[in-house]
Amino acid sequence: MRTMAMPADTNANGDIFGGWIMSQMDLGGSLLANEIALGRVGTVAVSEMSFSRPVKVGDVVCTHGELVKVGRTSITICVEVWVKPVLTPERGPRYKVAQAQFVYVAIDQDGRPRAIPAQE
Ligand SMILES: CC(C)(COP(=O)(O)OP(=O)(O)OC[C@H]1O[C@@H](n2cnc3c(N)ncnc32)[C@H](O)[C@@H]1OP(=O)(O)O)[C@@H](O)C(=O)NCCC(=O)NCCS
Repeated sequence: MRTMAMPADTNANGDIFGGWIMSQMDLGGSLLANEIALGRVGTVAVSEMSFSRPVKVGDVVCTHGELVKVGRTSITICVEVWVKPVLTPERGPRYKVAQAQFVYVAIDQDGRPRAIPAQE
């Protein structure tokens, strides 16, 4: 999933706010979880969150999700964030800025856990 970091997403240092980056990660990971669960999921846990480099306004922010584990109702996904500087003077190749492990639970229409369908 790709988007651009905007001025409204900055923190008091002028860099991009970590909470905004986490929401992009949650969204990116949930798209993969939706596909695996064949429907709705809710985020139940986030662990091993790390930010290795700052993100600047105008950076193109790319979120990549990789499946770690499928449980009975849960799906664990490792989400990485990579940045491609496009508008800043440091234009160049992509580099990794953050990583975390997200756990999603497949939920039914009433928000209760449901079994994940068998994977093909
Ligand atoms: C998602 C939710 C329905 C799960 O309900 P629950 O009562 O915790 O469900 P369970 O205890 O049966 O656990 C469901 C699965 O999640 C896993 N799980 C629960 N809490 C976890 C945690 N803290 N860390 C890792 N896995 C966890 C369980 O191991 C289980 O996995 P499995 O079925 O693959 O073995 C409930 O926690 C919820 O509604 N949470 C709020 C979701 C939300 O609003 N998220 C933010 C916005 S999306």
